Amino acid sequence: MKKAQITGIGFHVPERVVTNQDLEKIMDTTDQWIQERSGITQRHWVDKESNASILAIQAAKNAMEDAEIDASEIDLVICATLTSDYFFPGISNQIQHSLGMRMVGAFDIKAACSAIYSLSIGDQFIRTEQYKTILVVGAEVQSTALDISDEGRNISVLFADGAGAAVLQATDSDKGILSTHLHSDGKYLKDLWCEAPGTSNNPRLTKEILDQGKHLPYMNGREVFKNAVRRFPEVIKEAMDANELTIDDISQIIPHQANHRISEAVAKRMGVGMDKVFSNIKHYGNTTAASIPIAMCEARDKSLFSSDDIIILAAFGAGFTWASAAIRW
Ligand code: ACO
Repeated sequence: MKKAQITGIGFHVPERVVTNQDLEKIMDTTDQWIQERSGITQRHWVDKESNASILAIQAAKNAMEDAEIDASEIDLVICATLTSDYFFPGISNQIQHSLGMRMVGAFDIKAACSAIYSLSIGDQFIRTEQYKTILVVGAEVQSTALDISDEGRNISVLFADGAGAAVLQATDSDKGILSTHLHSDGKYLKDLWCEAPGTSNNPRLTKEILDQGKHLPYMNGREVFKNAVRRFPEVIKEAMDANELTIDDISQIIPHQANHRISEAVAKRMGVGMDKVFSNIKHYGNTTAASIPIAMCEARDKSLFSSDDIIILAAFGAGFTWASAAIRW
């Protein structure tokens, strides 16, 4: 049976760096508070002229260059994002057109930080042999939807912008995606959400909605923390069990970069050190759907895994959604 091998990865973040000290000047926060609660020291935020598709297209180019393939070889584009340039259509269509691909299928998915959903969908298309080469992208511009004031400080210090991409190619070898596991529990819908614009409001967007701040993300931090530290280890263990692996078989766990404290709690619950759980949130903040591909690029560049090593990707996000992928590199 065919497997999907990740033959190229790449990422792109906006040039503008916003440090904790920069935030101290515009809201009532401190570098110490942000670092202690999240591990973040800086993040990248877009300038006015940028947007999610610009980041996504550059990340896609980098991944295709890494895979040494031309855009004409791509059979399908899947983009995970919460923050497309427009309410519709999605970014994937812009990626397909801008990179000069054939008129292949292209669609966005909205699984929040659980961008592993898009990897899993790509994996299924390759396993069924419908497609041979798939571009999977995670891209977000969160900074323009943040309340950068004292009221929004619990959220705005965390989130950031960026994009990451991976090229999946069909292989007969033993390398590639070994399994994916996806979960959700819609009970927690309102513990991490952004109410507007949406069809629950009619009209979808009014001055009143804006005045009430319903277009800004809301997070129940305690509930997110509590569920994340439970679901991450659960879904990582599910990936290990499905492939009869022990923690010693895993070179690196690459979690969604939600919060360094969440990653530390996950490592502790799994009985491993932080040397086994990759973290780069310090420099990028939480880039939602882009965080895992960005982290994969940096972990590979630091030689934390290489050919034939097994890595586990794990995600948790709004919905709540959570997911994992086991990969032989
Ligand atoms: N700077 C300074 N003070 C702040 C900031 C800030 N940026 N944000 C909040 N505070 C204040 C609060 O106003 C509160 O002040 P008060 O005690 O005077 O009311 C105080 O800090 C503590 O706030 P709480 O929310 O009560 O703190 P708690 O100890 O419950 O921890 C926290 C909150 C850190 C958010 C915790 O719940 C957490 O880490 N949750 C995880 C959330 C997260 O990281 N989500 C990631 C994004 S979602 C995802 O990717 C899946």
